[in-house]
This record gives sequence, structure tokens and C-alpha cells, in this order.
Amino acid sequence: MEALITLLPGDGIGPEVTRCARDVLDAVAQRFAHRFEFREALIGGAAIDATGEPLPAPTVESCQASDAVLLGAVGGPKWSDPNAAVRPEQGLLGLRATLGVYANIRPVRIHPELAAASPLKPEKLEGVDMLVIRELTGGIYFGKKTRDATSASDLCEYTVAEIERIVRVAARLAGARRGKLCSVDKANVLETSRRWRDTTDRVVGDEFPGIELETLLVDAAAMHLLSRPADFDVIVTENMFGDILTDEASMLAGSLGMLPSASLGDSTVGLYEPIHGSAPDIAGRGLANPCAMIASAAMMLRHSLGLPAEADAVEGAIANAIADGARTADIAAGGSHISTDEMAVEVIRNLT
Ligand code: NAD
Ligand code: IPM
Ligand code: MN
Repeated sequence: MEALITLLPGDGIGPEVTRCARDVLDAVAQRFAHRFEFREALIGGAAIDATGEPLPAPTVESCQASDAVLLGAVGGPKWSDPNAAVRPEQGLLGLRATLGVYANIRPVRIHPELAAASPLKPEKLEGVDMLVIRELTGGIYFGKKTRDATSASDLCEYTVAEIERIVRVAARLAGARRGKLCSVDKANVLETSRRWRDTTDRVVGDEFPGIELETLLVDAAAMHLLSRPADFDVIVTENMFGDILTDEASMLAGSLGMLPSASLGDSTVGLYEPIHGSAPDIAGRGLANPCAMIASAAMMLRHSLGLPAEADAVEGAIANAIADGARTADIAAGGSHISTDEMAVEVIRNLT
């Protein structure tokens, strides 16, 4: 098949891990006789430096004309002045909103060989396999913001329709797995969470009778994720809670550098990005783990390009490279490690 993919390398380690994903996709194209055409565009700090804007119009046009978008990461200290007129992160938020990708799917899977890289006891990690479904285009991220000399505010707003559609995505995914859905909110304090909870109860009760629904308050959920991670099947939650809980959950897998994501809307054009950021502390030194980015490319093959066998092959290649002992510094648990590019080479070597 032929596919057009927009690459948005962004900032910090973004370009380093994006190059790795591209190399793996080139290897997939060769192995499976596909033609992937890549178009690179600017986003984030790199776009601010070049054009003054974090999401230039040609970038949006390229994304909209593509079958899928692969994004590295945006942001960094250079653009982090709280008084700056524009910020790299606005580019990413603007792109998510423009593409309408409201469902952010963050799988948390464990490579058993990486147990030593996790701060949790190995027996806690047995059987961990969950999907966190994070609402991505609403909530406090997108409400009205104000700031003056004496105060500041961020409005958190959700419509019932926004909650219904994300809960349906999550319940459908749970139905294809172990049938367990956990909705995370803060209904003891927040109106948006009370609406989230009654909408979730209704949608699941009326439309998904086979799904077992659990509800947790977000503070307790942060604890349960560590005390009984293997119990979770699908978690659905609002934008900010999902952001925070998945960085926490990444340590089950051993590193933030391991978790991919897919951001989907109602069309097949998806946005694929690792859950980590631009990691300014390690950028430019060959220390970044490209697995999250490569696994995001695998999700792209599955969800936007309709190539499940190729997606399985990439995920299998990551697993085999790790089983063979390939480790970047973040997952080496003090042992010897290889560079970002060498990790990509190991994944490509294991692609069968
Ligand atoms: P971060 O995710 O960039 O880094 C947190 C820690 O994890 C750092 O110690 C970093 O070195 C490490 N880490 C992250 N990815 C790694 C990888 N692939 N391999 C090895 N180690 C990795 O979070 P931060 O430092 O809080 O934020 C830095 C910048 O990134 C900020 O500007 C933030 O807004 C931005 N950010 C962007 C995205 C995105 O583009 N999707 C996501 C998160 C943060
Ligand atoms: C993520 C990031 C972004 C978010 C930032 C960079 C806007 O942390 O993708 O997880 O909070 O959504
Ligand atoms: Mn985040």
C-alpha cells in the first residue's frame, strides 16, 4: 500500500526519536512491500524559532492531507518563560483540537525483562496490561484562561456529548478485552467530575450491559495503580488526570521512554506520539529511548494504515530486541547501555 505520513520531529529528543521511527518504518516498507512517503513539518519551539508561531498553517495543511501524523515532542527551557507570548505546547494542543483527536489511547504493557527498571516489586508487575483512554480535546486544557497581576484562572468544562463519546470508545475497547472499565474522576469535589460520573454510569449501564464498571477518585486511583496494577483493564478519564496518571503508569513499564500513544477522532487520520516530552536534560546526547516513538509508529500502522500484521511485527521486534538485552540508559538499571540510534538498529534487526 501507499501512505503519506507527516513527521513532526519538534524539539529536544523529538528529532532523535522521530528519525528512529522513520528508519523502522522504512524497514517495514521494504520488508512488506509498501511505499511510505514522509513529509516533515514544523511544530513547537522549532516552529516558533522559524516562523514565530508554534503551529504554522503549512503544518496543519500537511497533517490534514496525510494518512497519519507522527510527532516527536515539543517544548523546552528556551521557550518556557511564563511571560512568553507563544509557547511550543500551544502547537500540540492546537493540532489535537484541529484534527479532532479526542481519544488518546495509552497502552501500558510490560516487558518482563524490564522488571529491574521499575521501582515496583517484580511480583506486582505480573499480568500488567492496561489501556488508559485519556480524553484529549476538552477539560481544563481548553477552557478559558485568565491572568492579571493579582490572580489567574483556568476553566474546566465538559459537555455531556464529549463525555459520552470518550466513554463509548473506552467501553468498546474494554468489550474487546477483559470487559473491565474503570472510570477515574474527582466527583467528591468537581462539578465536571459529577457530570462525568453520571454520564459514564448511564452510557455503560444503557449501552454496554456486559461491561463491569468501577469508579475511582483520582487520588485513590494514583495509589491503586501502584498497589494493584494488574487489576486494571481499561481506564477512562479526563484530559489532565489521564496526563498525570500515565506518566505514573510508565514506571510500571520501567521508563517514560517505553509508552506510546494514539490520538484518534472520528476519521482514520490519527496523531501518534510517545507520552514523554522533549527531555531537555538528555537531548542531543544519544541517551533517549526511542521505543515509545517506535511503538507509536506501530500503533499508526494498526489504527490509521490498516496494517495490523506490520504493527505486530514492529511490536514484536521491540520485544525481541529487549529480550536480547538491548537497553538504552533509562532501562539499563545500572547495567551497560546502547545509544538511541543503536536501539533502533536492534529493533530493525529483530523485524521478521
Ligand atoms: P519529559 O517527559 O520531557 O521528561 C521527564 C523525564 O523523563 C526526564 O528526566 C527525561 O530525561 C526522561 N525521559 C523522557 N523521555 C525519555 C526517553 N524517551 N528516553 C529516556 N528518558 C526519557 O518531561 P519534562 O522534562 O517535564 O518536560 C520537558 C518539556 O517537554 C516541557 O516543555 C514539556 O511541556 C514538554 N512535553 C512535551 C510533550 C509532548 O510533546 N507530547 C509531552 C510531555 C512534556
Ligand atoms: C503529553 C504532554 C502534553 C499534555 C503537553 C506538552 C501539552 O504532557 O502529551 O502528555 O499535557 O497533553
Ligand atoms: Mn504528559
